[in-house]
Amino acid sequence: KIFTKKLCEKLNIPTAKFGIFYNKLDAKKFTETIKFPTVIKADNLASGKGVYVCKNIQETSIAINEIFDGKFGQAENLLIEEFLDGEEASLFILTDGYDLLVLGSAQDHKRAFDNDCGPNTGGMGAYSPASNITPRIEKKIIDRIITPTLDEMREKGTPFRGILYAGLMIKNDEPYLIEYNARFGDPECQVLAIRLGAQLLDVLFNCAQKALLETKINYADDFGITVVLASKGYPGEYQKGEEITGLENISENEEIQVFHSGTALDGIKLVSNGGRVLSITTRSEDLESARKKVYDALTIIKWKGGFYRKDIGCKRSQK
Ligand code: AMP
Ligand code: GLY
Repeated sequence: KIFTKKLCEKLNIPTAKFGIFYNKLDAKKFTETIKFPTVIKADNLASGKGVYVCKNIQETSIAINEIFDGKFGQAENLLIEEFLDGEEASLFILTDGYDLLVLGSAQDHKRAFDNDCGPNTGGMGAYSPASNITPRIEKKIIDRIITPTLDEMREKGTPFRGILYAGLMIKNDEPYLIEYNARFGDPECQVLAIRLGAQLLDVLFNCAQKALLETKINYADDFGITVVLASKGYPGEYQKGEEITGLENISENEEIQVFHSGTALDGIKLVSNGGRVLSITTRSEDLESARKKVYDALTIIKWKGGFYRKDIGCKRSQK
């Protein structure tokens, strides 16, 4: 995170204002001078739990103590950021270090339960394209955020090749970078994959050959949606080894696919074997029919120990 923030500062990439602090005392003194809410982040890997959005000084104090007391492993520093009040979305770029292709945008649904309630998860569903990344905003993201980053990586002598996942906040039609990941998202990858179809293999292959622009992506005017079927209790404690049936009654084709992430075979029985277990993914010419298709398919799958959100893609369809 700190590497990215320093890069943003050097290249004038729009991002939340930030400070880096190396001890509790300096961090706490600083929080006496700022406006709330504010965001405190551990620089460590923290399974999605290292970001605190704090409403007051008591909450910042807890966050600072937890991070420096080693909740996420030994911490030498932390970040305090300005709170960006906007709508999130992600843009996925494929680059061979020189050229880039936009694979698509998506909007994840991070909270466990409907209406964005409950704890944060790795992602309970997504749709693509994200409604708040219009072509004009996409151009701003490429020109102000992605291109300067890739140029700088090349200049450092470490050109970046692969998937660049830009986590963004869009506020008053202006994009701000929240974070980068050097990987696809789960479950954002599923909606990009169903929309790109077999072209995905071609572009990945050409990227590996450093000949990215030899494949042109044919972007269909369609929508993808994916709903994650998770074990009850996730992201906390949950049972494993429960039988899941009905999948054989879903006929997969280029408009509906079931991705497995936490399943296993027990003899010939399909059983749950993780927190996020299956993602049911559909595409269609409009989001409403893609939603209907995905929720119809979910009624076919029988698993007593599973749950899923009923409102994936709803914010988008209301617009
Ligand atoms: P990160 O791990 O940096 O992507 O942060 C995790 C989540 O915290 C993001 O997906 C946002 O929902 C939220 N978040 C992070 N930074 C900010 C910020 N500066 N302002 C508002 N929300 C934020
Ligand atoms: N779904 C969020 C991520 O993969 O980071």
